[in-house]
Amino acid sequence: MTVTIVGSQLGDEGKGGIVDVWGDAADVVARYQGGDNAGHTVVEDGTEYKLSLVPSGAVRGKVGVLGNGCVINPETLFEEIDALRERGLDPDVRVARRAHVILPYHRVLDGIEEEVKSDSDVKVGTTGRGIGPTYEDKMGRRGIRVGDLLDPDVLREKLEYVVPQKRALAEDVFGVEVGEEFDIAALYDQYKRYGERLEENDMTVAAGEFLADRMDDGEEVMFEGAQGTIIDIDHGNYPYVTSSNPTAGGAATGTGLSPGVVGGGEIVGIVKAYLTRVGSGPLPTELGGVEGDTPGYDEQGAGENEELATYIREEGGEYGTVTGRPRRVGWLDMPMLRHSTRANGFTGLAVNHIDVLSGLDEVKVGHSYDLRGEERFTIPATTEMWSECEPNFKSFEGWESVDWGEVAETGYDAIPANARTYLEYVSDELDTDIYAVGVGPGREETVVVEDPFA
Ligand code: GDP
Ligand code: IMO
Ligand code: MG
Repeated sequence: MTVTIVGSQLGDEGKGGIVDVWGDAADVVARYQGGDNAGHTVVEDGTEYKLSLVPSGAVRGKVGVLGNGCVINPETLFEEIDALRERGLDPDVRVARRAHVILPYHRVLDGIEEEVKSDSDVKVGTTGRGIGPTYEDKMGRRGIRVGDLLDPDVLREKLEYVVPQKRALAEDVFGVEVGEEFDIAALYDQYKRYGERLEENDMTVAAGEFLADRMDDGEEVMFEGAQGTIIDIDHGNYPYVTSSNPTAGGAATGTGLSPGVVGGGEIVGIVKAYLTRVGSGPLPTELGGVEGDTPGYDEQGAGENEELATYIREEGGEYGTVTGRPRRVGWLDMPMLRHSTRANGFTGLAVNHIDVLSGLDEVKVGHSYDLRGEERFTIPATTEMWSECEPNFKSFEGWESVDWGEVAETGYDAIPANARTYLEYVSDELDTDIYAVGVGPGREETVVVEDPFA
């Protein structure tokens, strides 16, 4: 049986924490897309781990797999593994030989393109990790894969083909002078060494076969999505997206197991009880903007609900795990979640951060949109139309702050009644059961209603 964890919104919904809560029953935790743009937090007995490429099961000592759909920066992967070792963990990470490698020139090109776009409203606000340029090369059939690092002749041949193109792109198209990041000999030496370390530690696998064999042996597999549905390259608000498929279909293409395997298991949508967004793009229920990220911020300023947005941002610690940027904040958006529920086929939901909203008199939800005089219940397919949508809000009475640790221990009925009304509205609208409710960042601060592995 598999359990797939998917971000239902814009990333940072608390996926890492939920992987950790249910991960006890899993034997293997596999990432299927994305790279070190992800920042997943696990809090165990007050100790916080921020994981980027290493699957979140590492905190519980589970085997981690980085599937073929991931993009791997070996430098940051080894740094992360070494740092976790220093903190007393022993991450066992296997990397798909079919996964693509992020090279230094990808990061440089990511930065150049953002810089070029910075004067216009098409800037994405990427994490600068080279994610987009690496997936471009994958699709352009000029990428370098993890398996290529293990064969120096192949590595050299591929670098000799691709690096001059990248150099020309930087220098001739963008007019930027480049350095070592575009030097074939230097890249060859460095990446050959990464290949050696991968090999010495027996870290590479054919991911699909590896996972299928473990499942044949009766082991439980969890798929850990990174990012979220609304920044999915296909189902998100293009072009303000990441370059992979965080949606559940990605768990099949990104691991080498079939859609039947993924669909035959549980697919749990992770929902933040409000919205946050790092980077640009529309956000109809936005409360207060962030300079440089919120479209129109320069003309309109922070917006009328800035105080409320700041309150939620501070209560929730809403600053990017990877980049430290303040996150934009908004009310929960139901059209977004209806879209997400359809695209992923959620069998259950985990709603996090209800503790953050406690103490407010009123909690609002964008129930539907008004678009050109019509009421809409899901998000339109073009980002331009989405940015025209005006939310129709539904108002809920706020709930008090309580001893959330005690609530988690007692169970669902101990959640303040007004918060339960809010949760039940979400569950009814999406016709999906709530499996867990996050009431704090710690492992023990989750109300587990149903264990998907049970
Ligand atoms: P991910 O990328 O989806 O794994 O989420 P992040 O780790 O980037 O961001 C979620 C943040 O919220 C982290 O700091 C978590 O420790 C924290 N968190 C997760 N669930 C809850 C919750 O229910 N309540 C509170 N207050 N914090 C939470
Ligand atoms: P986790 O897994 C939130 C956003 C970036 C940017 C856009 C594209 O922690 O939920 P990229 O570097 O991927 O090309 O950037 O996607 N983004 C995330 N936002 N959580 C993430 O990951 C994100 N990963 C990328 O801010 O807007
Ligand atoms: Mg995150």
